[in-house]
Amino acid sequence: MDIYPNDDFPTVSRNNKTFVQVCASKDVLRRKGTRVEFDEELQIAIFRIGDRLHAVSNICPHNHSPLLHEGEINAEDCTISCPLHGYEFSLTTGKHTSSNLSHVEVYEVFEEDDAVFLEKPEPKELDWKW
Ligand code: FES
Repeated sequence: MDIYPNDDFPTVSRNNKTFVQVCASKDVLRRKGTRVEFDEELQIAIFRIGDRLHAVSNICPHNHSPLLHEGEINAEDCTISCPLHGYEFSLTTGKHTSSNLSHVEVYEVFEEDDAVFLEKPEPKELDWKW
């Protein structure tokens, strides 16, 4: 599922952060990522593993490819593998699992009243290392 938030999407404040209500809980499936595109460079992939949601940048730093939502989820290790060349990232820390060369940004996400709330990302200068 792809989601394109705009100013009509409800927001809530929590812990000095703004969270956008992006979809219903049922829209984030197990074994499949949900892509939330704030803009072309600001995309987040949400994954459901067990009872928890995880949110990371959807853009793989290897080739600047916006494809992590289509990657393979490893529920046991809580990682996502990029579908293009298999680079693997932790969904809890965002780190590349076999090097310190790069990482993906991690975002806060929570569920409440059967809705998913995602930390509103701030545009930032990206530091591509590969
Ligand atoms: S673009 Fe993701 S591993 Fe190459």
